Amino acid sequence: MLILMLAWTCAVAASVYFSLEQHRQAFYAEMYAQAKGIHSMDMEYRNWVTSHGGVYVPVTESTPPNPYLSHISERDVTTKSGKHLTLMNPAYMTRQVNELMDRHDAPLRGHIASLKPINPVNKADPWEVKALTAFERGKKEVASIEKMENGRNYFRFIQPMVTEKSCLKCHAQQGYKAGDIRGGISVSIPVDAPLAIENRETLTLLAGHGVIWLLGLAGILIGSRRQQQALLSVRKSEAEVLLLANSIAHAIYGQDLNGKCTFANAACMQLLGYRHEAELLGKDMHALVHHSRADGTPYPAAECPTHRGIREGQSLHIDEEVLWRKNGSSFPASYWSYPVMQDDQCVGAVVTFLDITEQKRVGDELKQSQKLLDSIVEHIPIHAVPQKCRRAAFRTVQSRRRKDAGVFAAGSARQERFRFISAGAGRVLLRQGYGCAGEP
Ligand code: HEC
Repeated sequence: MLILMLAWTCAVAASVYFSLEQHRQAFYAEMYAQAKGIHSMDMEYRNWVTSHGGVYVPVTESTPPNPYLSHISERDVTTKSGKHLTLMNPAYMTRQVNELMDRHDAPLRGHIASLKPINPVNKADPWEVKALTAFERGKKEVASIEKMENGRNYFRFIQPMVTEKSCLKCHAQQGYKAGDIRGGISVSIPVDAPLAIENRETLTLLAGHGVIWLLGLAGILIGSRRQQQALLSVRKSEAEVLLLANSIAHAIYGQDLNGKCTFANAACMQLLGYRHEAELLGKDMHALVHHSRADGTPYPAAECPTHRGIREGQSLHIDEEVLWRKNGSSFPASYWSYPVMQDDQCVGAVVTFLDITEQKRVGDELKQSQKLLDSIVEHIPIHAVPQKCRRAAFRTVQSRRRKDAGVFAAGSARQERFRFISAGAGRVLLRQGYGCAGEP
């Protein structure tokens, strides 16, 4: 039961783990898709500016000429009408857009970063430093959920910005060549709100699994208790049957289809001279106790009535057979064999037997004394019939055996205790006026 409970717990735990993992992955995938979309849009705007070698915008208070472009000869131009224009490089634009987002409290954050910034505002933060270093080793992008300096959690995404030919116009002087990692643009999406939803879903999932887990445990407990009870009652009835089997004088043993012993009661072991059931269990009972006939000639199993009984699924009774003890001696036995049926199929037999040595002896003695009595009575005169018999009822006995026909019986008719008196003596009695009409 413990193993079952443990297995169930493991199964539920595994299910929790995989469900949570799936949730986490789905959440990550969604955030990733969003961040990547925003990032590539950013990049395209930048690329557009880069493709024009920067764009000219009117000089204002918030958009002064970029001091970092002072080396560019035509950084500032004046139109024919006298308007002052200044060259805006892509990073300048990105910076201004990001500043705009900050000012408007936009949840989204963007940052152009470099390990060697021209403009200190573009200095990479620790997370970006790690990413940019990884890019220099060949990594293509970095994404993860991070807590930022404002204490909120963000899904952060950054890809490298590789120096192209078009960049060299302004960046060649820092020593960059085409193919170098110039920096990167990072996008950060706030995730506190979706994480809260996610956590609520996680709780629901855990609660659901918890309920299922408890229900399962309860089921296992109830099931195993029932099983235990069933087992107990089976054991109890087995013990009762055993007690019963061992308390009766009849010897009983069971055998399977192959004649192998399946059980033996105490009387059986005692009669056959075995001490332990184990000496019989699984043994071929015919070979063990029924191997020879009374005269010592072998008794083939095929001729054994029990085997026939099992084959034909019928019960049978043999008045007298010889069974053999462990010590090699034998005894006459009367035995019965009953087939054991299971789903209309005979699966073995239960054999019961009785040692009839005593009955046989008594029977033989009885026969002997009967013979003796017969011969005595044949020769005694009528007055020798005992007083008791005279007073008793006399009856004619019609028997199939000629010898007994017309014999008188003396004794109590009510008790049916008849003693045969020879035919001759009977006739004498008849003549004396005893007996019944119509005979013989
Ligand atoms: C018109 C000139 C110009 C062009 C073209 C240009 N940049 Fe810049 N870039 C600048 C200037 C000037 C800065 C200095 C910082 C600022 O303006 O905020 C800068 C800053 C950057 C930064 C931020 C880090 C720092 O040094 O401050 C990155 C990254 C960057 N550029 C990458 C590129 C890449 C990649 C290209 C080509 C695809 C490119 N730039 C094209 C002028 C240019």
